Amino acid sequence: MIQPSPRLAAIKPSPIRAITDGTPPGAIALGLGEPTWDLPEAARKALLRDPGPCPYVPHAGLPALRKGVAAFHGAAEEEVLITAGSQGALFSLFQAWVAPGSAVLVPDPGFVAYPALAGLAGARAVPYPLSPERFRLDPEAFLKVLEATPDARAVVLNTPSNPTGGGGSLEALRRVAEACEARGLLLISDEVYRDLHFGTRPPSLRDVTAKGVVVSSVSKGWGAPGLRVGWALGDPAWLLPARTVHGYAVTGTATPAQWAALALLEDSARILAEARTAIRERWEALAAALRAELGLTFDAPDGTFYHFMPLPPSAWADPLAFALRLRDEAKVVMIPGLAFGEGGRRHVRISFAATPEQLGEGVRRLAPYWK
Ligand SMILES: Cc1ncc(COP(=O)(O)O)c(C=O)c1O
Repeated sequence: MIQPSPRLAAIKPSPIRAITDGTPPGAIALGLGEPTWDLPEAARKALLRDPGPCPYVPHAGLPALRKGVAAFHGAAEEEVLITAGSQGALFSLFQAWVAPGSAVLVPDPGFVAYPALAGLAGARAVPYPLSPERFRLDPEAFLKVLEATPDARAVVLNTPSNPTGGGGSLEALRRVAEACEARGLLLISDEVYRDLHFGTRPPSLRDVTAKGVVVSSVSKGWGAPGLRVGWALGDPAWLLPARTVHGYAVTGTATPAQWAALALLEDSARILAEARTAIRERWEALAAALRAELGLTFDAPDGTFYHFMPLPPSAWADPLAFALRLRDEAKVVMIPGLAFGEGGRRHVRISFAATPEQLGEGVRRLAPYWK
Protein backbone atom coordinates (compact mmCIF):
# COMPACT_ATOMS: atom_id res chain seq x y z
CA MET A 1 0.00 0.00 0.00
CA ILE A 2 1.20 3.49 -0.77
CA GLN A 3 2.45 5.30 2.33
CA PRO A 4 2.85 9.00 3.12
CA SER A 5 6.39 10.31 3.03
CA PRO A 6 8.52 9.31 6.05
CA ARG A 7 8.85 13.05 6.71
CA LEU A 8 5.33 12.91 8.12
CA ALA A 9 6.00 9.99 10.45
CA ALA A 10 6.52 12.17 13.50
CA ILE A 11 3.83 14.72 12.64
CA LYS A 12 0.41 14.34 14.14
CA PRO A 13 -2.63 16.47 13.33
CA SER A 14 -2.95 19.46 15.67
CA PRO A 15 -4.20 18.33 19.11
CA ILE A 16 -6.30 21.50 19.15
CA ARG A 17 -8.31 20.29 16.18
CA ALA A 18 -8.64 16.85 17.79
CA ILE A 19 -10.58 18.51 20.61
CA THR A 20 -12.46 21.20 18.72
CA ASP A 21 -13.52 18.91 15.84
CA GLY A 22 -15.68 16.89 18.23
CA THR A 23 -17.48 19.94 19.65
CA PRO A 24 -21.03 18.82 20.58
CA PRO A 25 -24.04 20.96 19.67
CA GLY A 26 -24.75 23.69 22.22
CA ALA A 27 -21.15 23.77 23.48
CA ILE A 28 -19.44 27.04 24.41
CA ALA A 29 -16.34 27.28 22.22
CA LEU A 30 -13.37 28.64 24.16
CA GLY A 31 -10.89 26.55 22.20
CA LEU A 32 -9.79 28.15 18.94
CA GLY A 33 -7.58 31.22 18.99
CA GLU A 34 -9.44 33.60 16.73
CA PRO A 35 -11.22 36.93 17.14
CA THR A 36 -15.01 36.64 17.15
CA TRP A 37 -15.68 40.29 16.30
CA ASP A 38 -16.50 41.44 12.76
CA LEU A 39 -13.88 42.01 10.11
CA PRO A 40 -13.13 45.77 10.33
CA GLU A 41 -14.94 47.91 7.79
CA ALA A 42 -11.78 49.06 6.03
CA ALA A 43 -11.11 45.48 4.91
CA ARG A 44 -14.71 44.80 3.95
CA LYS A 45 -14.70 47.83 1.65
CA ALA A 46 -11.37 46.84 0.10
CA LEU A 47 -12.70 43.35 -0.64
CA LEU A 48 -15.67 44.85 -2.50
CA ARG A 49 -13.51 46.96 -4.80
CA ASP A 50 -13.90 46.17 -8.51
CA PRO A 51 -10.72 44.27 -9.22
CA GLY A 52 -10.56 44.55 -12.99
CA PRO A 53 -8.03 41.77 -13.60
CA CYS A 54 -7.09 39.87 -10.47
CA PRO A 55 -3.40 39.48 -11.16
CA TYR A 56 -0.59 37.57 -9.55
CA VAL A 57 1.55 39.88 -7.47
CA PRO A 58 5.34 39.69 -7.04
CA HIS A 59 6.51 36.83 -4.83
CA ALA A 60 7.64 39.30 -2.17
CA GLY A 61 4.06 40.63 -2.00
CA LEU A 62 1.96 43.53 -3.28
CA PRO A 63 4.42 46.45 -3.34
CA ALA A 64 1.98 48.81 -1.59
CA LEU A 65 1.41 46.26 1.16
CA ARG A 66 5.14 45.71 1.63
CA LYS A 67 5.48 49.47 2.04
CA GLY A 68 2.57 49.52 4.48
CA VAL A 69 4.05 46.75 6.61
CA ALA A 70 7.47 48.40 6.49
CA ALA A 71 5.98 51.73 7.63
CA PHE A 72 4.07 50.02 10.46
CA HIS A 73 7.30 48.50 11.79
CA GLY A 74 9.58 51.42 10.98
CA ALA A 75 11.52 49.22 8.54
CA ALA A 76 12.54 49.33 4.86
CA GLU A 77 10.43 47.72 2.11
CA GLU A 78 13.28 45.31 1.28
CA GLU A 79 12.98 43.94 4.81
CA VAL A 80 9.41 42.69 4.21
CA LEU A 81 8.17 39.41 2.73
CA ILE A 82 4.38 39.04 2.49
CA THR A 83 3.21 35.50 3.25
CA ALA A 84 0.09 33.35 3.66
CA GLY A 85 -0.39 34.21 7.33
CA SER A 86 2.50 34.19 9.76
CA GLN A 87 2.22 30.42 9.37
CA GLY A 88 3.40 30.79 5.75
CA ALA A 89 6.35 32.85 7.00
CA LEU A 90 7.28 30.29 9.66
CA PHE A 91 7.01 27.37 7.24
CA SER A 92 9.12 29.11 4.59
CA LEU A 93 11.81 30.25 7.03
CA PHE A 94 12.11 26.76 8.52
CA GLN A 95 12.27 25.10 5.09
CA ALA A 96 14.84 27.62 3.92
CA TRP A 97 17.18 27.61 6.91
CA VAL A 98 16.73 24.57 9.10
CA ALA A 99 18.94 21.72 7.94
CA PRO A 100 17.67 18.14 8.27
CA GLY A 101 19.05 16.55 11.43
CA SER A 102 19.55 19.90 13.20
CA ALA A 103 17.58 21.40 16.08
CA VAL A 104 15.14 24.28 16.54
CA LEU A 105 14.57 25.77 19.99
CA VAL A 106 10.89 26.29 20.75
CA PRO A 107 9.06 27.53 23.85
CA ASP A 108 7.41 24.97 26.16
CA PRO A 109 4.54 25.53 26.51
CA GLY A 110 4.32 26.98 23.03
CA PHE A 111 2.31 27.23 19.82
CA VAL A 112 1.70 23.71 18.48
CA ALA A 113 2.92 24.50 14.96
CA TYR A 114 6.56 25.11 15.93
CA PRO A 115 7.53 21.47 16.61
CA ALA A 116 5.51 20.30 13.59
CA LEU A 117 7.23 22.79 11.29
CA ALA A 118 10.62 21.73 12.64
CA GLY A 119 9.64 18.10 11.91
CA LEU A 120 8.57 18.96 8.36
CA ALA A 121 12.03 20.44 7.84
CA GLY A 122 13.55 17.15 9.05
CA ALA A 123 14.75 18.74 12.27
CA ARG A 124 13.87 18.16 15.92
CA ALA A 125 12.26 20.68 18.22
CA VAL A 126 14.10 21.24 21.48
CA PRO A 127 11.83 22.79 24.11
CA TYR A 128 13.03 25.58 26.40
CA PRO A 129 11.04 26.41 29.53
CA LEU A 130 9.39 29.73 30.31
CA SER A 131 9.51 31.40 33.72
CA PRO A 132 7.62 29.43 36.39
CA GLU A 133 5.76 32.61 37.35
CA ARG A 134 3.44 33.80 34.55
CA PHE A 135 5.26 31.82 31.84
CA ARG A 136 7.35 34.71 30.50
CA LEU A 137 10.53 34.54 28.42
CA ASP A 138 13.23 33.57 30.91
CA PRO A 139 16.71 34.27 29.46
CA GLU A 140 18.56 32.13 32.05
CA ALA A 141 16.44 29.08 31.29
CA PHE A 142 16.69 29.74 27.56
CA LEU A 143 20.49 30.15 27.56
CA LYS A 144 20.95 26.88 29.44
CA VAL A 145 19.07 24.98 26.74
CA LEU A 146 20.88 26.86 23.98
CA GLU A 147 24.27 25.95 25.42
CA ALA A 148 23.23 22.31 25.64
CA THR A 149 22.16 22.26 21.96
CA PRO A 150 25.25 22.67 19.75
CA ASP A 151 23.34 21.67 16.59
CA ALA A 152 20.65 24.36 16.97
CA ARG A 153 20.05 26.23 13.70
CA ALA A 154 17.05 28.36 14.60
CA VAL A 155 15.25 29.72 17.65
CA VAL A 156 11.64 30.77 17.99
CA LEU A 157 10.42 33.32 20.51
CA ASN A 158 6.75 34.13 20.99
CA THR A 159 5.90 37.09 23.17
CA PRO A 160 3.16 37.62 24.18
CA SER A 161 2.77 33.87 24.13
CA ASN A 162 0.19 31.50 22.82
CA PRO A 163 -0.87 29.72 25.02
CA THR A 164 0.26 31.53 28.17
CA GLY A 165 -0.22 35.25 27.46
CA GLY A 166 3.22 35.82 29.04
CA GLY A 167 5.53 38.46 27.56
CA GLY A 168 9.25 39.10 27.45
CA SER A 169 11.12 42.14 28.75
CA LEU A 170 13.43 44.23 26.58
CA GLU A 171 16.36 42.93 28.61
CA ALA A 172 15.29 39.31 28.09
CA LEU A 173 15.00 39.85 24.34
CA ARG A 174 18.41 41.56 24.26
CA ARG A 175 20.15 38.68 26.04
CA VAL A 176 18.56 36.06 23.82
CA ALA A 177 19.34 38.05 20.65
CA GLU A 178 22.99 38.53 21.63
CA ALA A 179 23.44 34.82 22.27
CA CYS A 180 21.78 33.87 18.96
CA GLU A 181 23.83 36.40 17.00
CA ALA A 182 27.04 35.11 18.57
CA ARG A 183 26.14 31.62 17.31
CA GLY A 184 24.92 32.78 13.87
CA LEU A 185 21.45 31.32 14.46
CA LEU A 186 18.26 32.35 12.78
CA LEU A 187 16.24 34.06 15.51
CA ILE A 188 12.53 34.28 14.73
CA SER A 189 10.30 36.39 16.97
CA ASP A 190 6.64 35.54 16.49
CA GLU A 191 4.84 38.76 17.42
CA VAL A 192 1.32 38.06 16.13
CA TYR A 193 -0.16 39.10 19.51
CA ARG A 194 2.02 42.12 20.15
CA ASP A 195 -0.76 44.69 19.70
CA LEU A 196 -3.26 42.78 21.84
CA HIS A 197 -1.89 43.91 25.20
CA PHE A 198 -3.34 45.01 28.51
CA GLY A 199 -0.89 47.72 29.53
CA THR A 200 2.04 49.20 27.69
CA ARG A 201 2.91 47.82 24.28
CA PRO A 202 5.30 44.86 24.68
CA PRO A 203 8.79 45.22 23.20
CA SER A 204 9.64 43.81 19.79
CA LEU A 205 12.79 41.98 18.76
CA ARG A 206 13.29 45.00 16.44
CA ASP A 207 13.84 47.12 19.55
CA VAL A 208 17.03 45.21 20.27
CA THR A 209 18.25 44.06 16.85
CA ALA A 210 17.44 44.27 13.13
CA LYS A 211 19.36 41.03 12.52
CA GLY A 212 16.63 38.58 13.51
CA VAL A 213 13.29 38.04 11.78
CA VAL A 214 9.93 39.17 13.16
CA VAL A 215 6.83 37.36 11.93
CA SER A 216 3.33 38.73 12.27
CA SER A 217 -0.02 38.90 10.49
CA VAL A 218 -3.41 40.59 10.33
CA SER A 219 -4.96 37.50 11.95
CA LYS A 220 -5.11 38.53 15.59
CA GLY A 221 -4.75 42.27 16.23
CA TRP A 222 -6.53 43.29 13.04
CA GLY A 223 -9.20 40.60 13.47
CA ALA A 224 -8.75 38.98 10.06
CA PRO A 225 -7.45 35.38 10.34
CA GLY A 226 -9.39 34.28 7.27
CA LEU A 227 -7.61 36.75 4.99
CA ARG A 228 -4.43 34.69 5.35
CA VAL A 229 -2.06 37.62 5.15
CA GLY A 230 1.08 37.72 7.22
CA TRP A 231 4.69 38.72 6.84
CA ALA A 232 8.30 38.14 7.77
CA LEU A 233 10.33 41.23 8.53
CA GLY A 234 14.08 41.28 8.83
CA ASP A 235 17.45 41.15 7.16
CA PRO A 236 16.82 40.52 3.42
CA ALA A 237 19.57 37.87 3.53
CA TRP A 238 17.30 35.71 5.75
CA LEU A 239 14.21 36.49 3.66
CA LEU A 240 15.42 35.73 0.15
CA PRO A 241 15.59 31.90 0.42
CA ALA A 242 12.29 31.94 2.36
CA ARG A 243 10.74 33.89 -0.51
CA THR A 244 11.80 31.15 -2.92
CA VAL A 245 10.16 28.48 -0.73
CA HIS A 246 6.98 30.51 -0.28
CA GLY A 247 6.80 31.22 -4.01
CA TYR A 248 6.95 27.54 -4.89
CA ALA A 249 4.55 26.60 -2.07
CA VAL A 250 1.72 29.03 -2.78
CA THR A 251 3.00 31.61 -5.35
CA GLY A 252 1.59 34.34 -3.15
CA THR A 253 -1.33 34.94 -0.84
CA ALA A 254 -4.57 36.02 -2.58
CA THR A 255 -4.32 39.44 -4.25
CA PRO A 256 -7.68 40.79 -2.92
CA ALA A 257 -6.66 39.65 0.57
CA GLN A 258 -3.48 41.72 0.22
CA TRP A 259 -5.55 44.79 -0.75
CA ALA A 260 -7.71 44.22 2.31
CA ALA A 261 -4.67 43.79 4.55
CA LEU A 262 -3.30 47.09 3.26
CA ALA A 263 -6.59 48.80 4.14
CA LEU A 264 -6.37 47.31 7.64
CA LEU A 265 -2.81 48.50 8.12
CA GLU A 266 -3.69 52.00 6.97
CA ASP A 267 -6.39 52.11 9.66
CA SER A 268 -4.20 50.45 12.31
CA ALA A 269 -4.47 53.04 15.07
CA ARG A 270 -8.26 52.74 15.25
CA ILE A 271 -8.54 49.01 14.57
CA LEU A 272 -5.91 47.97 17.10
CA ALA A 273 -7.36 50.27 19.78
CA GLU A 274 -10.82 48.76 19.19
CA ALA A 275 -9.40 45.25 19.36
CA ARG A 276 -7.76 46.07 22.71
CA THR A 277 -11.09 47.38 23.99
CA ALA A 278 -12.74 44.15 22.83
CA ILE A 279 -10.25 41.90 24.62
CA ARG A 280 -10.30 44.05 27.78
CA GLU A 281 -14.12 43.77 28.00
CA ARG A 282 -13.88 40.05 27.48
CA TRP A 283 -11.07 39.62 30.01
CA GLU A 284 -13.09 41.53 32.59
CA ALA A 285 -16.13 39.32 31.93
CA LEU A 286 -14.01 36.18 32.27
CA ALA A 287 -12.19 37.37 35.41
CA ALA A 288 -15.49 38.40 37.05
CA ALA A 289 -17.07 35.00 36.27
CA LEU A 290 -14.02 33.12 37.60
CA ARG A 291 -14.20 35.15 40.82
CA ALA A 292 -17.94 34.67 41.24
CA GLU A 293 -18.26 31.02 40.20
CA LEU A 294 -14.91 29.47 41.12
CA GLY A 295 -13.69 31.89 43.81
CA LEU A 296 -10.45 32.37 41.83
CA THR A 297 -8.71 35.70 41.17
CA PHE A 298 -6.21 36.24 38.36
CA ASP A 299 -4.21 39.11 36.89
CA ALA A 300 -4.73 39.87 33.21
CA PRO A 301 -2.14 38.27 30.88
CA ASP A 302 0.56 40.53 29.39
CA GLY A 303 -1.17 40.16 26.03
CA THR A 304 -3.18 37.80 23.72
CA PHE A 305 -6.73 36.62 24.35
CA TYR A 306 -5.63 33.51 26.26
CA HIS A 307 -5.96 32.77 29.92
CA PHE A 308 -3.67 29.92 30.96
CA MET A 309 -5.46 28.65 34.01
CA PRO A 310 -4.21 26.13 36.58
CA LEU A 311 -6.10 22.82 36.49
CA PRO A 312 -7.37 21.10 39.60
CA PRO A 313 -4.69 18.56 40.74
CA SER A 314 -7.06 15.67 40.02
CA ALA A 315 -6.71 16.51 36.29
CA TRP A 316 -2.89 16.50 36.13
CA ALA A 317 -2.51 12.79 35.40
CA ASP A 318 -4.71 12.88 32.29
CA PRO A 319 -5.49 16.46 31.25
CA LEU A 320 -6.72 15.39 27.82
CA ALA A 321 -9.38 13.12 29.36
CA PHE A 322 -10.39 15.99 31.65
CA ALA A 323 -10.74 18.40 28.69
CA LEU A 324 -12.79 15.83 26.77
CA ARG A 325 -15.08 15.40 29.78
CA LEU A 326 -15.55 19.16 29.99
CA ARG A 327 -16.30 19.20 26.28
CA ASP A 328 -18.78 16.35 26.28
CA GLU A 329 -20.44 16.69 29.72
CA ALA A 330 -20.18 20.36 30.67
CA LYS A 331 -20.21 21.40 27.01
CA VAL A 332 -17.32 23.82 27.26
CA VAL A 333 -14.42 23.49 24.84
CA MET A 334 -10.98 24.45 26.15
CA ILE A 335 -7.52 23.24 25.21
CA PRO A 336 -5.45 21.29 27.75
CA GLY A 337 -2.09 22.96 28.29
CA LEU A 338 -0.36 19.63 27.62
CA ALA A 339 -1.25 20.11 23.94
CA PHE A 340 1.37 22.91 23.97
CA GLY A 341 4.11 20.86 25.62
CA GLU A 342 4.93 19.11 28.86
CA GLY A 343 5.35 22.51 30.57
CA GLY A 344 1.61 23.09 30.14
CA ARG A 345 0.46 19.85 31.78
CA ARG A 346 -1.07 21.54 34.84
CA HIS A 347 -2.93 24.26 32.96
CA VAL A 348 -5.74 24.71 30.50
CA ARG A 349 -5.95 27.39 27.81
CA ILE A 350 -9.15 29.41 27.73
CA SER A 351 -9.53 31.54 24.62
CA PHE A 352 -11.45 34.61 25.75
CA ALA A 353 -12.01 35.98 22.27
CA ALA A 354 -15.60 34.67 22.75
CA THR A 355 -18.40 37.08 23.71
CA PRO A 356 -18.76 38.18 27.39
CA GLU A 357 -22.07 36.24 27.59
CA GLN A 358 -20.42 33.03 26.34
CA LEU A 359 -17.58 33.49 28.81
CA GLY A 360 -19.99 33.93 31.74
CA GLU A 361 -22.04 30.88 30.75
CA GLY A 362 -18.90 28.81 30.04
CA VAL A 363 -17.49 29.45 33.51
CA ARG A 364 -20.85 28.67 35.16
CA ARG A 365 -20.74 25.28 33.44
CA LEU A 366 -17.17 24.66 34.61
CA ALA A 367 -17.77 25.42 38.27
CA PRO A 368 -18.79 21.90 39.39
CA TYR A 369 -15.61 20.45 37.88
CA TRP A 370 -13.30 22.80 39.77
CA LYS A 371 -14.72 21.96 43.20
C1 LIG B 1 1.67 32.20 18.15
C2 LIG B 1 1.06 32.04 16.82
N1 LIG B 1 1.82 32.21 15.74
C3 LIG B 1 1.32 32.06 14.50
C4 LIG B 1 0.00 31.73 14.31
C5 LIG B 1 -0.47 31.56 12.90
O1 LIG B 1 -1.42 32.51 12.58
P1 LIG B 1 -1.59 33.12 11.12
O2 LIG B 1 -1.00 32.20 10.14
O3 LIG B 1 -3.07 33.26 10.97
O4 LIG B 1 -0.88 34.44 11.16
C6 LIG B 1 -0.85 31.56 15.40
C7 LIG B 1 -2.26 31.18 15.21
O5 LIG B 1 -2.95 30.76 16.10
C8 LIG B 1 -0.30 31.72 16.70
O6 LIG B 1 -1.05 31.58 17.79
